[in-house]
Amino acid sequence: MLGFSFFRCYNALMNKFPQDFFWGAATSSHQVEGGNIYNDWWQAEEKHQLKEASLSACEHYKLYPQDFAIAKELGHNCHRFSIEWSRIEPREGDFQPQAIQHYRQVIAELKAKGMEPVVTLHHFTNPVWFSEKGGWTNFKLQKYFLRFVEKITAALAAEVKYWITINEPLVYSSHAYLLGAWPPKQCSLWQTAKVTLNLAQTHIKAYRIIHRIYREKGLPGPLVSIAANLQAFEICRPTLKNKLARYLRNKLYNFYFIELLLRKKTLDYIGVNYYSRNLIDTRHWGVRSLLLETCQENHHPLRKNSLGWDIYPHGLYKLLISLKKYNLPVFITENGICTGDDDLRWDYIREHLEETLRAMEEGVRVAGYIYWSLLDNFEWDKGFGPRFGLVHVDYPTQKRSIRESARKLAEVIKSGAII
Ligand code: BGC
Repeated sequence: MLGFSFFRCYNALMNKFPQDFFWGAATSSHQVEGGNIYNDWWQAEEKHQLKEASLSACEHYKLYPQDFAIAKELGHNCHRFSIEWSRIEPREGDFQPQAIQHYRQVIAELKAKGMEPVVTLHHFTNPVWFSEKGGWTNFKLQKYFLRFVEKITAALAAEVKYWITINEPLVYSSHAYLLGAWPPKQCSLWQTAKVTLNLAQTHIKAYRIIHRIYREKGLPGPLVSIAANLQAFEICRPTLKNKLARYLRNKLYNFYFIELLLRKKTLDYIGVNYYSRNLIDTRHWGVRSLLLETCQENHHPLRKNSLGWDIYPHGLYKLLISLKKYNLPVFITENGICTGDDDLRWDYIREHLEETLRAMEEGVRVAGYIYWSLLDNFEWDKGFGPRFGLVHVDYPTQKRSIRESARKLAEVIKSGAII
């Protein structure tokens, strides 16, 4: 399905999404399942190191059949979710068959409803025992994650084609090891670099394991990638410093990791998570300024989400065009907005779809669009405040209500045309 046919091209030129385009929404285990008591986030939440605790989250571990029924009603033909390693292996080496069985049922439920599963293996959380040994700062611990990958792939290969090994490796390493915002809350450039490299090496090995298992089982090849968080780096003023900063940030934050994996031939497609713009205004020549300083003066104000992130759909177009040179299909594995204003949510979705279609008209092979998120959920260190869902969740009652924006997206999915 990630192929590139004449009809895909033709449809894009007709201002329509191709018929085999993937449409769906994403979640991640810790953000929706509830009760993930064996992972490092839960541990930090218990120690009151975070604003809010995830507790029962959206009770999706139990309510997934009803949530998938909603996704089906909304016309989705794919769904992205993550497998919680700490449920599969709560204690070192103690694998839980019933947890694996749970995810088998999740996949069966999706397939019965006509939705292709897109499975993430690491989405920011780790089992406590793994983090207590040193987690991703220790290269020797890769073997534990790879053993988990091996088990899960062996169990699910027959039912899964699309894999994402690691969600947003750079977001994880920077938030957990540089900014000190996520467990284990460290602030060290050295550890961040180590973790990033460790994640890259781990992806490369995981990619090879997944492919080997499919070969051994005589199954058609899987499609494996990461979900890369890409930001639109825009300059405030056309100074030399700003241009250099833009170049360096694009290289380092957007393309370095992808290019590393491409050199090792371990990406079958490029998973793109896109949300916002980073507006550069660098005052000094120092590395810190060049790599981190952003405009503080509101020179080019844009609409914002409820966390204050700029809404910049054109950035998605520009990034998609810049991925063209890698000559691989692209899958938009996350794009979304947290807001209390559902009209703004719809504008956000529509405008990002328009920019996607434009990039497709210019030859970018986009396989699908996955909105973040199906449900309002636990937004990590920001707690339950930000609401990203196509579906509103009333946490005290766990009642779901489909938002109008989700219905409008469903119309696009149905007709293939943006209304
Ligand atoms: C992550 C999600 C997160 C979303 C919104 C992405 O970086 O993969 O887990 O909820 O962005 O912040």
